[in-house]
Amino acid sequence: MKASTLSFRLAVLFVVAGMAMGIGMAASQDHSIMPAHAHLNLLGWVSLFLFGIYYERRPALDASRLAMVQVWLWSAGTVLLTIAVAAIHLGYTAADPVAALASLVVLAAMLLFGYMVFRLPSVSSEPTPHIAPAE
Ligand code: HEM
Repeated sequence: MKASTLSFRLAVLFVVAGMAMGIGMAASQDHSIMPAHAHLNLLGWVSLFLFGIYYERRPALDASRLAMVQVWLWSAGTVLLTIAVAAIHLGYTAADPVAALASLVVLAAMLLFGYMVFRLPSVSSEPTPHIAPAE
């Protein structure tokens, strides 16, 4: 599987979970896990979808193991961070170290993405050729 395909699929799963969480908050009129909902949607849906678009436009990078590792690392960090942030806001402060660890995991995944953007220019700057419109 390509990194972009994995990104898009996981992003859809994350946003479905995030929307369910939002509906649950609205229905129960208890917004205490709002920060977890916001992080799940912004890391899991928006950011992951953006990674997918970046990879899809660079076929060599899209097929690389490094991009796959980045997507999995980001996704694992997102799941962990969402659960830990929700737990903290529900009063389980013992989840604090888990949130700290998860934040380092997503930071590591972002640094890895930065490495691909800045350090692999030959792989990264090869966008898919555009199709010219017919006259
Ligand atoms: C079925 C879809 C959704 C529902 C029912 C929903 C519901 C909610 C609710 C009830 C809140 C708490 C508002 C408050 O306490 O002030 C909230 C906050 C938030 N939601 Fe959603 N949401 C949905 C989808 C999304 C999506 C797709 C995103 C991002 C792409 C998103 C991002 C946010 C953010 C960033 C906040 C925090 C806003 C703030 O700080 O005031 N939500 N949402």
